[in-house]
Amino acid sequence: MENNVQRIPLIGEKFPEMQVKTTQGVYSLPNDFEGKWLVLFSHPADFTPVCTTEFVAFQKRYDEFKKLNTELMGLSVDQVFSHIKWLDWIRENLDIEIQFPVIADDGSISRRLGFIHGNATNTVRAVFFIDPTGTVRAILYYPAELGRNFDEILRMIKAFQVADEHKVAMPANWPNNEIMGDEVIVPPAVTVAEAKERLKNKKYQCYDWWLCHKKLK
Ligand code: BEZ
Repeated sequence: MENNVQRIPLIGEKFPEMQVKTTQGVYSLPNDFEGKWLVLFSHPADFTPVCTTEFVAFQKRYDEFKKLNTELMGLSVDQVFSHIKWLDWIRENLDIEIQFPVIADDGSISRRLGFIHGNATNTVRAVFFIDPTGTVRAILYYPAELGRNFDEILRMIKAFQVADEHKVAMPANWPNNEIMGDEVIVPPAVTVAEAKERLKNKKYQCYDWWLCHKKLK
């Protein structure tokens, strides 16, 4: 029997093409963001407390995201008029103008992207990181009762950009790693000759041939 159920896009795969209705009109994902990073995130519902704090946190960092060539887009299973009323409430009561678009989903996008877990009808707090070529680079899931850390989301975008530009990997807690500070990891040697070279050559700082790091220029 043919299985027509599409599985969710995973890390390293192209984000599926889709049209979305938002508070700022219709967008084609991921094509309208070609050449930019996109942080697509879901929240469980409008007019809920943790989600309100998250929107404020995202908006407060919106300029920093834009400086990193990154756009933001929210999503929940709510209608566009609900999003508009909630964003009005945030502006009137918290003096914060939410400037990024928010998708009004009937549930179909959330199901396609794996934003609805278990038997729930609304979404978890998911985050998709989509790179300028439309490839999924990371996915986060948080439950309803735990607001996300938006500095970590910014750190991830910065880390991806450094990793891509310099062909390196980023250590834990970068740029405040416990053993190499703000330095970055050189990809492991893949040949015996390269492994020997790593230990002789003082080009990198190496704990061993497979654990080398260097300063960013
Ligand atoms: C909140 O954002 O506060 C929330 C949303 C859904 C369930 C529980 C809390």
